[in-house]
Amino acid sequence: MKILVTGSNGQLGSELKLLAAVYKTFDFTFIDVEEVDLTQADSIRSYFAAKQFDFLIHCAAYTAVDKAEEESRLAYAINADAVKTLAEVCVEKKIRMIYISTDYVFDGEANQPLTEMAVPSPVSVYGKSKREGENHVLSILSNAYIIRTAWVYSTFGKNFVKSIRHLASQRESLGVVCDQIGTPTYAFDLASAILQIVEAVAQGRVDEPGIYHYTNEGVTSWYDFAYFLVRESKLNCRIQPISTAQYKTAAVRPKFSLLDKSKIKATFALQIPHWSESLKVCIEKLSS
Ligand SMILES: NC(=O)c1ccc[n+]([C@@H]2O[C@H](COP(=O)([O-])OP(=O)(O)OC[C@H]3O[C@@H](n4cnc5c(N)ncnc54)[C@H](OP(=O)(O)O)[C@@H]3O)[C@@H](O)[C@H]2O)c1
Repeated sequence: MKILVTGSNGQLGSELKLLAAVYKTFDFTFIDVEEVDLTQADSIRSYFAAKQFDFLIHCAAYTAVDKAEEESRLAYAINADAVKTLAEVCVEKKIRMIYISTDYVFDGEANQPLTEMAVPSPVSVYGKSKREGENHVLSILSNAYIIRTAWVYSTFGKNFVKSIRHLASQRESLGVVCDQIGTPTYAFDLASAILQIVEAVAQGRVDEPGIYHYTNEGVTSWYDFAYFLVRESKLNCRIQPISTAQYKTAAVRPKFSLLDKSKIKATFALQIPHWSESLKVCIEKLSS
C-alpha cells in the first residue's frame, strides 16, 4: 500500500512520519514544499507523472490564519487551487484522497456540537479558502475522505501550546481568550486516527467516503486550555481570562467550534482520548 503524505514538515505530517514506523506494511513517501511547491500546478502534475500511490494524505496547507487576510491570493492558491489539481490527479491515477480541513469552515454561531450536516459559512480568508478546497474535493472525487479538525497542537512546529509555554516561562501573567469554545486536537492522535482509517479502507473492512469531524474529546475555552497547560507544566504564570474583543486579531475566529465526532467514532470504531489526557502526554514529551 503506497501512501503519499504532503506537508511532511508540518505538525500533522511530522506526527505521521513518527507513526510510519509502526505501520510497516505501508510504504510511505513524505513530501513538502522542497519536493513539490503546491502553488505550481505544473510542479504537482510532473511530480505525479511517473509515480503511483494508493492513498494521498493531504496535510499541506496555508495555515497562517491572520496573515491569510492580507495574503488571500496565496492562501487560495495553496488551500483551494492546489487541492483542485491534486483531486484531478487522484481521479486520473485512481488515488484515494484524505483531505484535512478545519472547523474554520463554520461561522461559530452554532450553540450545539457541529455535525457533518451543519452548513459551512466561513468568515475568514483561511476558512473560505479551505472550504473552497473541500468543494473541489467533493465535486471531483466521489471516494475521498474529508477530515475536519480544530485547534491542532503537537511537539512539532508552531502552535498555541508551545507559544503559551514560552510566554508563561517569561511573564508573571498572561491574558487568554475565554469566550471561544471548542476542543483541542493533539496532532499525534489525529495522525493515529487517519492511519486507522486508511488501514480500514485498505483492508476493505470499512469504506464510507465523505466528511468526518475529528478533535480530542471534551470541550474547553482557550483560557481553560492555557490554564490547564500552565498548571501541568508547573510554570509560575497567572492565566487571566480576556474577551475576544480585548484580543484583536486580523481574522475573525469562530466563537463556537465544537465538532461532533459521533460519525467518525461509530464508522471506524475509534477511541478518542480526552483533550486533557493528550495534553499531558504532549507536555511530558515537551519537557523531556
Ligand atoms: N493547525 C491547526 O490548528 C489546524 C486546525 C484545523 C485544521 N488544520 C488543518 O490540518 C492540516 C495540517 O495542519 P498543520 O497544523 O500540520 O499545518 P502546518 O504545521 O502549518 O503544516 C503545513 C505544511 O504545509 C506546507 N506548505 C505550505 N505551503 C506549501 C506549498 N506552497 N507547497 C507545499 N507545501 C506547503 C508547510 O511547509 P512550510 O512550513 O515549509 O511552509 C508545512 O509543512 C492542514 O490542512 C490545516 O489546514 C490545522
